[in-house]
Amino acid sequence: MTDLPLHFTHLELGVCDYPEHVPPERWPYYAASQKALGLRFVRLAEFAWSRLEPRPEQYDWTWLDEAIEAYAQAGLQIVLCTPTAAPPAWLVTEYPEVLPRGRDGQIKTFGSRRHYDFSSPVYRAFSRRMTRAVAERYGQHPAVVGWQTDNEFGWGDTAQSFTPAALSAFQQWLRSRYQTVEALNDAWGNVFWSMEYGDWQQIPLPNQAVAEVNPAHALDFLRFSSDQIAEFQEEQVAILRECSPGRFVTHNYMGFFSGFDHYRVSACLDFASWDSYPTGTLEALKEWKLGDPQLALDFARTGHPDLTSFNHDLYRGMAVGQVADGHSPGFWVMEQQCGQVNWAPSNPLPAKGAVELWTAQAWAHGADVVSYFRWRAATMAQEVMHSGLLGHNEQPGRGFVEVAGLQLDQFPAGEIRARVALLHDYESLWLYNLQPHAEGANYWAQTFSYYRALRSLGIDVDIVHPDSPLHDYALVVAPALTIMTPELAWQLEACAVNSQLVFGPRTAFRLPSGSTPPEGQFGSLSTLIGASLLNYDGLPVGMTQDIVAADQGHTEPHSAQHWAESYQPDGAQTLFRYRHGPLDGESAVIRRGNVTVIGAYSQTLITEVLKELLEAAGLAPVHLPEGVRLSRRGDLTLLQNWNSHPVMWQDRELPAVSSVSLHSPSVAEQSGEARLTSASLQH
Ligand code: GAL
Repeated sequence: MTDLPLHFTHLELGVCDYPEHVPPERWPYYAASQKALGLRFVRLAEFAWSRLEPRPEQYDWTWLDEAIEAYAQAGLQIVLCTPTAAPPAWLVTEYPEVLPRGRDGQIKTFGSRRHYDFSSPVYRAFSRRMTRAVAERYGQHPAVVGWQTDNEFGWGDTAQSFTPAALSAFQQWLRSRYQTVEALNDAWGNVFWSMEYGDWQQIPLPNQAVAEVNPAHALDFLRFSSDQIAEFQEEQVAILRECSPGRFVTHNYMGFFSGFDHYRVSACLDFASWDSYPTGTLEALKEWKLGDPQLALDFARTGHPDLTSFNHDLYRGMAVGQVADGHSPGFWVMEQQCGQVNWAPSNPLPAKGAVELWTAQAWAHGADVVSYFRWRAATMAQEVMHSGLLGHNEQPGRGFVEVAGLQLDQFPAGEIRARVALLHDYESLWLYNLQPHAEGANYWAQTFSYYRALRSLGIDVDIVHPDSPLHDYALVVAPALTIMTPELAWQLEACAVNSQLVFGPRTAFRLPSGSTPPEGQFGSLSTLIGASLLNYDGLPVGMTQDIVAADQGHTEPHSAQHWAESYQPDGAQTLFRYRHGPLDGESAVIRRGNVTVIGAYSQTLITEVLKELLEAAGLAPVHLPEGVRLSRRGDLTLLQNWNSHPVMWQDRELPAVSSVSLHSPSVAEQSGEARLTSASLQH
């Protein structure tokens, strides 16, 4: 673990700036204005390679020297980037083999960014050379306090590349994983369709087959590609640690990105960062076909609170291996939307107050720093339609005004003491989404449904890898752990001794190889769960399946969409059953001891089952209206309304797009009395 020189007593702010985009005389003025706005950090140079090394090995540091001096003079602390997300034209012209290839086998050409293949040994050498050059130049500069590696690994569908270099590295990777071709054939089940290999060289990349490739093949290629990104990152991090001691190293990830195992790739970082664009992220709701399409319109100007906080909670739980006590090392929002974005199909102007709302939420979910993207709106090229804190004309935009109004001492540092963990695993994500089996059945959508249910009940959630220590949680929710290993099964059994454990559909349906366990679902969890799978049903969009409580046939049924699976209990009791349709009378929700399994996609069913468990665990759930959320950090509770209209809640009118801080009720109060009274309000 790095001994970080940064200490946070409250939330700090920063900005992403591009001195290479404006004349040098603007630099001191921009830096002074940033400082005057109350910003502490500025992030620089993640796409500046063509200006830093305009010709091979002819570096031009003068402009960046001068720019860094300008920011340092103004009293800003600098997060410098390795500029490897945008290799210059001379490099790709001289070494075209560094360019990535898409799934269709076509080369992705120069002309945008991220045009490189992680597996290219030539590009790896350039990445190390450039990282060393920039780290040797600035690594000891007193104003440089940390590093961002590259920029948004995988953006533009580049996490996987289908080049000859990837092919030979993949074959090598398979050889070290399986040792013999026979073992690989066995693990992948290649007897099916005569897919058996006689030699490593016969194994192709999984992109151009006639139809669906063996999911085992695709899964291993995802693992391989993820390892390539991890190695790429580790190479840069090793150089930065050598040349720039005492500085942090982070990377800015994207929200809901599936292309690599973020836990594995983050293992060498001090903490993770992510780029938060709440209105753009709203697209996920449409893609996942979750609920009413009106929801995306209702939240068009703020984004949906749970989509954004999911990613805060996810990245807060990354890179925990770096901290001795296994707790969160914190996280940064490296790029925070502060106006309109340019990349969604439609890009509405955010609501008044949205920037403040987003900043406060990031703090409440544990962010140390929120850094806005970007200082001044770009006056050139692809992102001219994107906003900045300043407009094209250098005049303050609405985001600027909101940032200027923030009182940072209202956002003190403090622990998030979540009693509920949600388990998330990229390997399960990959395998689940390789074979969705129903439109709308999607790992993220399923996982998000549980998260959303918990948040709608006012509960703080840690999103963690299933291998994490789980003993401090009262409730552990594992919405979609489709891959099960014996080790994980033991960990979950141990967890269920003292905590409530909830599983979603397709739990323990597959082995790490991609095959099903020979005994079928629930494989190594069968005894713990006390049941086995009976049937599964992939429901076409628009078709639903009724579910009723097992002991009261007359209550309003829950309605499942996308997916419904039923169980044959063997020790477990049935809490809910399917009604009508092909699953009529079969078990939908089962429980044995502390372990509950919910077999279908139904937001209301998930919420009802979780609410009952939370109440039993003394966690005092409260029903929050859509878009109204509670988040606790340290001694404060943030109450937010993300709706564009006022909402009444607990006799109090919450104005549209607003936040208020409340003193958190004590733990004793939490278990006895969930109501947050106006007497506990703090302004
Ligand atoms: C991010 C990226 C930035 C900028 C921004 C626009 O994905 O890291 O460089 O393109 O989106 O919203």
